[in-house]
Amino acid sequence: MEIHSPSQGRIGAEISQLDLRAVTAQDATRIRQTIYEHKLVIFHGQSPSPEEYIAFARKIGRPQVYFQHNYHHPQHPELFVSSNVLEDGKKVGVAGTGRYWHTDYQFFQEPLPLVMVYPQVLPKAKRETYFIDMQRVYEAMPAELRAYVEGHRAIQEGKWRYKITPEDVDKALVDILAAVEKQVPAITHPAVIEHPLTGRKSLYLSSGFTTGIEGLTHEENRAAMAKLFAFIEQEAHVQTYSYQPGDILLWENRALLHKASDNPLGEPSKSYRIGIYDELPFYKS
Ligand SMILES: [Fe+2]
Repeated sequence: MEIHSPSQGRIGAEISQLDLRAVTAQDATRIRQTIYEHKLVIFHGQSPSPEEYIAFARKIGRPQVYFQHNYHHPQHPELFVSSNVLEDGKKVGVAGTGRYWHTDYQFFQEPLPLVMVYPQVLPKAKRETYFIDMQRVYEAMPAELRAYVEGHRAIQEGKWRYKITPEDVDKALVDILAAVEKQVPAITHPAVIEHPLTGRKSLYLSSGFTTGIEGLTHEENRAAMAKLFAFIEQEAHVQTYSYQPGDILLWENRALLHKASDNPLGEPSKSYRIGIYDELPFYKS
């Protein structure tokens, strides 16, 4: 196993000379250390079966089962299926997921520390994931923005990103939203989190799920959110990864925001994601 570190100021270590089907406990420890250091890990030339892919995830941590069953692979609920490809004429998983800035499960009390993506069908035009390093963003924040977040808690809501399912037919939008809100009520997390292992601080906000800072008025929050997201999402903060066949990406949600590319031509696209809990709390309390 060889680890190629990224250049200064970039994220993403490439790991080569390793078959994910034959990872030892010692390799898994090195991979976890690499994630905590470089935030994103890239494996090339991999072709594990779904079973082998899940077995690898188990060596890294505890695979999670997504809270909505319509995202599950029919045989392997640990696989979150993002797909527009029909299988035996049937819809499997959900199409067009995660095309907004977010970090997975931010609207849960226990967010997902790690996530792994394994594309199965790559659209010809492009298949990319965009990343923002929120530890770097935190360090670069001007004092005016820092005042909004330092020592404050941010409100996180999943309901606005809920995707309509076949069971929602004939229901009113207000009733659908009320049911989703019951399942995933708004919660709060510190707006700045401290990594449980490295101690590095990260700005823990996303325009996908964060709706405000606790204690501010509606008007104050509108202004604060606009300024914070304009700063976070500026071009200079975005790093793009373009997938090649055989790539598997694994990254840390404590440190990164991510967003999936659009598929403007509607070409076939399918990937298997696994959310993984490591042995650490999400942030130092
Ligand atoms: Fe995601």
